[in-house]
Amino acid sequence: MGKEGIGGDSFHPDPETLVVVPNLTPDPDTGIGRWTDDQLARAIREGIGHDGRALMPMMPYRHFRHMSDEDLASVIVYLRSLLPVRHVLPHGKLPLTRQWKYNRYPLPLTVEVPEPDLSEPIRRGAYYVELGKCADCHTPLDDGNQYLANLDFAGGNFLDEVQKAAPNLTPDASGISYYDEATFIRVMRTGTEGGAGSTRLCRGGMSVR
Ligand code: HEC
Repeated sequence: MGKEGIGGDSFHPDPETLVVVPNLTPDPDTGIGRWTDDQLARAIREGIGHDGRALMPMMPYRHFRHMSDEDLASVIVYLRSLLPVRHVLPHGKLPLTRQWKYNRYPLPLTVEVPEPDLSEPIRRGAYYVELGKCADCHTPLDDGNQYLANLDFAGGNFLDEVQKAAPNLTPDASGISYYDEATFIRVMRTGTEGGAGSTRLCRGGMSVR
């Protein structure tokens, strides 16, 4: 408790690269305390950091651009309600060629993002799947980090952390056609499919509570 949002996870995949996950608590010197709502909004939904830099797509701004203005405002209000934690972090660094590549990813948002239509389960589900960034793991990507055509949610992205590929979520026989609603809810909430001999799924990024 009291450590939410303090950032600091870092990755050092090669000597030229240091990725640092920033402190999102309201500390004025080491966190977001001096950033405006607009700076936060641009970082979260458009991929432009508070200092004008294009953020790496590991920060899922390409999905969060679909977050409604109202939901975004709530996220910002929540971040500002966290306990300010002074947490000095190193500056990240990226080879210039990688930064140039990422410079192409941010997309400005010039229109309002209205409240999602939550009246129908399909539209509500699409909104949550977008914000849950399910496709980042469950839709295969090409070398340029773009989704492969016609393979939406067909699985296949190999995840180094868990040494396995994210499964096919489509209703094909090689996917999860055998799921009923109860199985789906059980998997989402517990990480097990239930039934005899079922194993617990690893926590491949899903929040398993
Ligand atoms: C960080 C990557 C990642 C994200 C994001 C992610 N998943 Fe997964 N998901 C996985 C991996 C890896 C597995 C397989 C885990 C295992 O086999 O132990 C998995 C398993 C599943 C399964 C079980 C499939 C089966 O074969 O029974 C379902 C259903 C599922 N995910 C749905 C979702 C949904 C819906 C979302 C978004 C709300 C989501 N996942 C987001 C990586 C991810």
